[in-house]
Amino acid sequence: MTLRGRHLLQLPGPSNVPDRILRAIDRPTIDHRGPEFAKLTRSLQAGLRRVFKTEHDVIMFPGSASGAWEAAFVNTLSPGDRVVMFDHGFFSANWRRVGERFGLEIELLPADWRKPIDVTQLREVLHNDGQHAIKAVALVHNETSTGVANDVTAVRSALDDSGHPALLFVDAVSSLGCMEFAHDAWNVDVTVVGSQKGLMLPPGLSFTAVSSTALAAAESAILPRSYWRWEDMLEFNADGFFPYTPATNLLYGLQEALIMLEEEGLETAWARHGRLAEATRRAVSAWDLEFYCTDVSARSDTLTAVLFPDDHDANAFRRIVREQFNLSLGGGLGPLQGKVVRLGHLGDFNELMLGATLSGVELGLRAAGVPYQPGGVQAALDYLGDH
Ligand SMILES: Cc1ncc(COP(=O)(O)O)c(C=O)c1O
Repeated sequence: MTLRGRHLLQLPGPSNVPDRILRAIDRPTIDHRGPEFAKLTRSLQAGLRRVFKTEHDVIMFPGSASGAWEAAFVNTLSPGDRVVMFDHGFFSANWRRVGERFGLEIELLPADWRKPIDVTQLREVLHNDGQHAIKAVALVHNETSTGVANDVTAVRSALDDSGHPALLFVDAVSSLGCMEFAHDAWNVDVTVVGSQKGLMLPPGLSFTAVSSTALAAAESAILPRSYWRWEDMLEFNADGFFPYTPATNLLYGLQEALIMLEEEGLETAWARHGRLAEATRRAVSAWDLEFYCTDVSARSDTLTAVLFPDDHDANAFRRIVREQFNLSLGGGLGPLQGKVVRLGHLGDFNELMLGATLSGVELGLRAAGVPYQPGGVQAALDYLGDH
């Protein structure tokens, strides 16, 4: 069947790439060792510092965010180092697997996937580690698989209160540019991000903000690294270049994305995400569907995960929505396969795109025979009209 109209890509990433960015990418590739390129790198560095809220240069690797996960470990740690992580979703599990593959000793703290991380147990673990054998604590700020947002500052406080020197690693892949985040003020040591969500770019780039403490750790860490070696990147970036052929055209796109975020204002972009997310939540409540995240205050501003009734296959619903309404929604990952639908509301997104997305969901619920109360779209519009 031929589908007409523009496809709505309402996954929780990759997000819709704005035409401005696509046009910016569609330019001739330049000499990556020439002066024009050096100027481009410097402008990107300045823009990225503002978005990450850091004074340090942000490392840009061609590669997906999973590569930056690996880089966080291999640059700062040595075989057998202890790392504390939380069992709080599909992406935290994948990050943990990277650490295990490199021979790190991951201490996994149990968590409820439907709620934000509780730092009580972390405090106890840190308190009992008088020898400071734990070298890092890592968490996902916004778990894209569950739609639960975590409080990074609570984890930082747990470290500070116990006087523990472990590094703090944060995955901000689906929060940066959309939800409040401040690498330096929150005293994060390594922040990992991908290009395809709040930065509105196609997939293909990863970004890593690093603290001076993390850079110092890199001097003594002995896990093997070559491509992901931060020092090489920072050395070349200092002159505006890369240690190898960079993804020049994606970097043009990044330049445009940074201009767009600058024009809107980062705080305004956060507020926009908050408002559109709240309208989405109003719709889900009005439909009388179940939020996967049971903690009202921890529901993510970039996606909403909806738990389907036991006897209804969430993937069958997604298929109907895609095939009939040209709308892609996120599916459940790992153990949530077929149980959850994730509505992405991030990146280059506005009221009318939300209205279209919610209309597709409401039509899809009806077409798939999922029990719901009508009126979700109206509830969202009422909220948007009033706020
Ligand atoms: C929170 C989070 N971390 C990491 C990743 C992995 O990113 P990538 O697929 O770019 O490697 C994703 C991807 O969706 C994510 O949402």
